[in-house]
Amino acid sequence: DAQSAPNAYARATETAQYVRSQLPESLQNPKLAIVCGSGLGGLADTIEPEPKIEMAYGTIPNFPQSTVQGHAGKFVFGQIGPQKTPVALLVGRAHFYEGHTMDLVTFATRVCKVLGVETIIVTNAAGGLNQNYRVGDIVCLNDHLNLAGLVGIHPLRGPNIEEFGVRFPPLSDAYDLDLRRRTHKAWVKLGLDQQQRRLHEGVYAFVAGPTYETRAECRMLNMLGADVVGMSTVPEIIVARHAGIRVLAFSLVTNVAVLEAGSRGNDTEIQTMSKAELTAHLSQGKANHEEVLEAGREAAKDMQALVKQIVSDLHEE
Ligand code: ADE
Repeated sequence: DAQSAPNAYARATETAQYVRSQLPESLQNPKLAIVCGSGLGGLADTIEPEPKIEMAYGTIPNFPQSTVQGHAGKFVFGQIGPQKTPVALLVGRAHFYEGHTMDLVTFATRVCKVLGVETIIVTNAAGGLNQNYRVGDIVCLNDHLNLAGLVGIHPLRGPNIEEFGVRFPPLSDAYDLDLRRRTHKAWVKLGLDQQQRRLHEGVYAFVAGPTYETRAECRMLNMLGADVVGMSTVPEIIVARHAGIRVLAFSLVTNVAVLEAGSRGNDTEIQTMSKAELTAHLSQGKANHEEVLEAGREAAKDMQALVKQIVSDLHEE
């Protein structure tokens, strides 16, 4: 039963020992981990070729197995950027909607903690709710709405694991201000502010999925103060903060919600629409997985450049 099974600290320690045993000494103590969301795994290809170790999630003891297409699952260890900063890259993640428990969804984050990670950069693909956002925009998260958590689906529910942190951790400072400031500086340094790409700060609403939001849910989330919505990230961030890891998180906007009243399609409107108008109306703002992956590919390069610049600037401190 749950009480007698080894807790997440014991399992994470076992996994970290296995992972370390596969690594050369120079990669055994990464202080930085990066979680690559849907279509954002390209960062793994920019790692120095030597030394570089890849471990498929399926080969790692206690790791959850990812089941979504476009989310290859591997742990990649290597050095990144001009200063050859040792990093642990999580390419692909376990989502709650796959049926994993919150314990499994956040397990890799805890392995990172045991490996000595002090800072984690989490990326994801998300839906835009803020009406100023466009597909391809990058959002540096400054807060979240843990909708699943507020109703009891929470990664820290259950006996507190003292080895990681306290029973009642604060989250008011979850999104590290210093790292956010560095982000804006890195953005300017890269000249990305002079390009089409746009960087915002915003609030991420975590939903369990796997359905995308209805129009009414989009309006509700927007009214509640969310700028983007997605099915990941928040559980990992909570577990990271519990364990005292500094957090920086980015959403790539891969689709935008239609929030205008007109999209509500009241009865008379629908009755007088032509078939073509109806088709257009229904496809407007409809999120789909292909669109998510495509927008990810386009904007991923800028996001990667941004992350690398931040890593490089962090190294200099
Ligand atoms: N991931 C990408 N787009 C999303 C959306 N609209 N809602 C939830 N998760 C998403």
